[in-house]
Amino acid sequence: TAAGATALTGCRSEDPVERAEPAARLLFPPDFGWGAATSAYQIEGAAKEDGRGESVWDTFSRTPGRTRNGDTGDVAADHYHRYAEDLDLMRDLGLRSYRFSISWPRIQPDGTGAANQRGLDFYRRLVDGLHERGIAPMATLFHWDLPQTLQDAGGWESRDVAHRFADYAATVFAALGDRVPVWLTINEPKTVVQNGYLRGHHAPGRQDPDAAYLVAHHLQLAHGLAVQSLRADGSNGRIGPAFNLHPCYPADDSPAAAEAARLYDGYENRLYLDSAFHGSYPEDVLADLGPDSRLVRGIQDGDLEIISSPVDLLAVQYYTPIYVTGTGGTVRRWPTSEASWQQIYPDGMYDILTRVTRDYGPVPLTVTENGLPTPDVLGADGTVEDTGRVTFLRDHLAAAHRAIADGVPLESFHVWSLLDNFEWEEGYEQRWGLIYVDYPTQRRVFKRSAHWYRKVIADNAL
Ligand code: NOJ
Repeated sequence: TAAGATALTGCRSEDPVERAEPAARLLFPPDFGWGAATSAYQIEGAAKEDGRGESVWDTFSRTPGRTRNGDTGDVAADHYHRYAEDLDLMRDLGLRSYRFSISWPRIQPDGTGAANQRGLDFYRRLVDGLHERGIAPMATLFHWDLPQTLQDAGGWESRDVAHRFADYAATVFAALGDRVPVWLTINEPKTVVQNGYLRGHHAPGRQDPDAAYLVAHHLQLAHGLAVQSLRADGSNGRIGPAFNLHPCYPADDSPAAAEAARLYDGYENRLYLDSAFHGSYPEDVLADLGPDSRLVRGIQDGDLEIISSPVDLLAVQYYTPIYVTGTGGTVRRWPTSEASWQQIYPDGMYDILTRVTRDYGPVPLTVTENGLPTPDVLGADGTVEDTGRVTFLRDHLAAAHRAIADGVPLESFHVWSLLDNFEWEEGYEQRWGLIYVDYPTQRRVFKRSAHWYRKVIADNAL
């Protein structure tokens, strides 16, 4: 098996319950990067401390009607103050990799200029704490918290913001480049495009399709410029983009559905993958947008060379498939989670990993997010029985294992999320963590899924 995944034959038992267990354990490659993920605005809190500037998510979440119950990230999981305790929890879980994001407005409160040393110091303490516990840091440079000052100057509609991002990235590389082995540039550019600029339920809350695809271009440009910054820095860190990919399947056997699913895939996946890995935008999407679109008009000579600067890895975030009808609508085929947009379909993990390897490889892959919100309650006995999350993760990891066995160079897997946190427009009601956060006390409790994941990591097997 190409990447070293094997199946171990387990012992058969005469006990009927045990006999119903799968006969084979799924062993992962040696050194597999078992991980969990978070992002700055979702967990840190301390919104006004140590010189942090305002971000678009401060503005958006404090605007009445934008988030459930008016929740904001002002306190969140208070990780900014509790990071040492959280590092110990990661060690107890046995994590080998921790993916977090750096808050741009902590580093450059107004999005430009000199670094705020206290902001950098926080991430240096975090990264050093990870190394002390044998956990590899994986840092995302942008997880949606754009400095508000830059939004006021046009936000991602402004090409200049891509250059500001490259400067910010260079500042971070200079400070932390010697101790962060893996960097991710922009988290889920598609979500900024679709939720921030098409549907408007994320910051900055716009509903403007023409602006949206220009934003896509500038986010891609920002990615490429940051890759070039890292190379210019001479650091030997690795870097890549983090895309949320959605396998798009025709909803039926009609040629119309096949065609519609193909275009849908262009907008969901190829817009980002083709530009970053092939140096071109997909023709079908460009034709659909038309020659007068701001995206098409916004492409300058050399942009696609920058966007397709060679990367070291591709980070994949998989949550749900999409089924597309002949008229370009979508339908559901599988049970939906507490997140209305998520259908539970583990085979989609296999399909997307094998597809990117086939179409964009060979490039090392990491899964930087996969997870499920469940209606978790802290029981009187102090336990949280999130069995739905255990089943979900087991099935998705089994699908990832199957992809590895079929030759996909998957090096790590990060559960979304380490902790319950601020789920954007859903506020704190949706709980995605392996670790329960009791917000009134900020007490952390391992859910059943955390105990389960710890065993998976210790066994290096499912
Ligand atoms: C993707 C995002 O990167 C993350 O911030 C979010 O919480 C999860 N998906 C769950 O919706």
